[in-house]
Amino acid sequence: MEWFQKWDKVLDDSDAPFYKWFVGGKTNIVHNAIDRHLKTHRKNKLALIWVGEPGDSRTFSYFALNREVSKFANVLKSMGVKKGDIVTIYLPRLPEQMIAMLACAKIGAAHSVVYGGFSVEALAERIEDAQSRVLVTADGGWLRGKIIALKDIADEAMARQPTVETCIVVKRTGQDIYMEAGRDYWYEDLMSLPIAGPICETEPTDAEDMLFILYTSGTTGRPKGVIHTHGGYMVFTYTTLKYVFDVKDEDRWWCAADPGWITGHSYIVYAPLINGVTSFMYEGAPTHPYPNRWWQMIENHGITILYTAPTAIRGLMRFGDSWPNRHNLGSLRLLGTVGEPINPEAWKWYYTVIGQERCPIMDTWWQTETGGFMITPLPITPLKPGSATRPFFGIDVDVVDDESQPVPTGEEGYLVVKTPWPGMLRAVYKDPDRYREQYWDKFKTMYQTGDSARKDEDGYVWVIGRMDDVIKVSGYRLGTAEVESALVSHPDVSEAAAIGLPHELKGNAIHAYVILRAGVEGDENLAETLRDHVGHEMGPIAKPETITVVDTLPKTRSGKIMRRLLKARALGLPEGDVSTLEE
Ligand code: WT7
Repeated sequence: MEWFQKWDKVLDDSDAPFYKWFVGGKTNIVHNAIDRHLKTHRKNKLALIWVGEPGDSRTFSYFALNREVSKFANVLKSMGVKKGDIVTIYLPRLPEQMIAMLACAKIGAAHSVVYGGFSVEALAERIEDAQSRVLVTADGGWLRGKIIALKDIADEAMARQPTVETCIVVKRTGQDIYMEAGRDYWYEDLMSLPIAGPICETEPTDAEDMLFILYTSGTTGRPKGVIHTHGGYMVFTYTTLKYVFDVKDEDRWWCAADPGWITGHSYIVYAPLINGVTSFMYEGAPTHPYPNRWWQMIENHGITILYTAPTAIRGLMRFGDSWPNRHNLGSLRLLGTVGEPINPEAWKWYYTVIGQERCPIMDTWWQTETGGFMITPLPITPLKPGSATRPFFGIDVDVVDDESQPVPTGEEGYLVVKTPWPGMLRAVYKDPDRYREQYWDKFKTMYQTGDSARKDEDGYVWVIGRMDDVIKVSGYRLGTAEVESALVSHPDVSEAAAIGLPHELKGNAIHAYVILRAGVEGDENLAETLRDHVGHEMGPIAKPETITVVDTLPKTRSGKIMRRLLKARALGLPEGDVSTLEE
């Protein structure tokens, strides 16, 4: 990696927990992701192979990617975007998602990517928090043979949050959409104007300048904007990908996540490019038109490393071995998993049927907040199915009790990180108190992950799951509070509680309990209406599995809903300590 100016100090902990890395250093992550390669043999190497769900395909060499990114960076500049601004990007899985992110970073602006599966209120509150003046979206995207009408959702979100002055629309599906004169512009039109010149200098940034914010669910209230910066994030994502997946020049790397989540930010966009790897990206559903879609693409494109989530593996496993067995998966040499603990059946299937007992599985534990892999094997590490094994170089984790004391081997406790690392979040956007409270108040000098775990006699870490009100649904992170506020935004609902319960495919599923407003009769259509309402506000992934109408919710005397109790009752487990209950 290249720096424009070397740092004076690697770690500044004088204002802990607001740690700073590579203080005084000047760089720009895009310089290392793109510019640097243009001086080498990688100039004409493929940076990205993209396949659309209908079967269309586009490829970009590093040279071509640089041209697109530079052109779009110039477009953004002409719209007045500058350092300190946050551009909201709400796109399907298209090359333009990556191009828009890199264009922001190139000119020193920050991006806030909102997952294309989120809906109106989720998008609106993220635009509002970031005060974005520019929004990049698309007319639609393909999923399971259908069009997801992103622009309609964006229009409704912009009506709720009028901070957006310019909306840039990528043409993907070509159906008729509403375009507001003076606000909405086609991406393709702008890219053909003289303002979209092909040369754009990469802006030198301080190591600690904000690269992006990414909103993620927490214990309470609204999603929090996790801040990552140019220098530390660049070093950490580059290093973790390099060593954990041992990436080589001839690899074809496929991280099957969405760039709208941290997995995609780190391991579709930044780390593969910094490593000079060829990445593969696919727009649509794994089962479209048939459940062999992924295996066919691995064969066709000679994918060497596949990195995905347990939920996707379980989803494909249920169609049986004959689908993957029809394809030559001999190009694969390594596999990876992330997002939730992987169950032994899914691990075994992934290992034997997909990896043909040749490919070690890198089970990587990390979070939006950590920027990159934290607990993970290397290709040479002896594996134990279901364990992310041991911490990465320089990462110091432990499992402790409420008094910050390590728990005995084999016992469950809080998973903590004992020392800062370069890829760590720097803060919560506009909310330093929340940063302290969420991550540092409980264990003071140790970072609180929110997960529970245990360590075995070999020092291997077994992550059990979230201990807070975060639910991992199909590997996606959602907060009970967000689902509840979507429910109570419906006029018929006065109170709501959401919990996560185990689900065979999704890992966890959301179940909701609602109290209706006086005078409202709950008929059989109501639950469906409310599920659709949550889908419309938050996105399909947040739709509760079941909605139960109740007269009361168990609460503590201070008025907090006891979700733990709801969960215990739903699972038929002992209710535990109910001394604070006031039903
Ligand atoms: C939470 C973070 C950053 C990757 C995508 C998720 C769970 C993540 C594993 C794993 C067991 C895992 C944890 C964590 N998790 N990877 N390999 N084994 N659990 O990022 O959305 O911020 O969610 O995902 O519960 O806290 P995220």
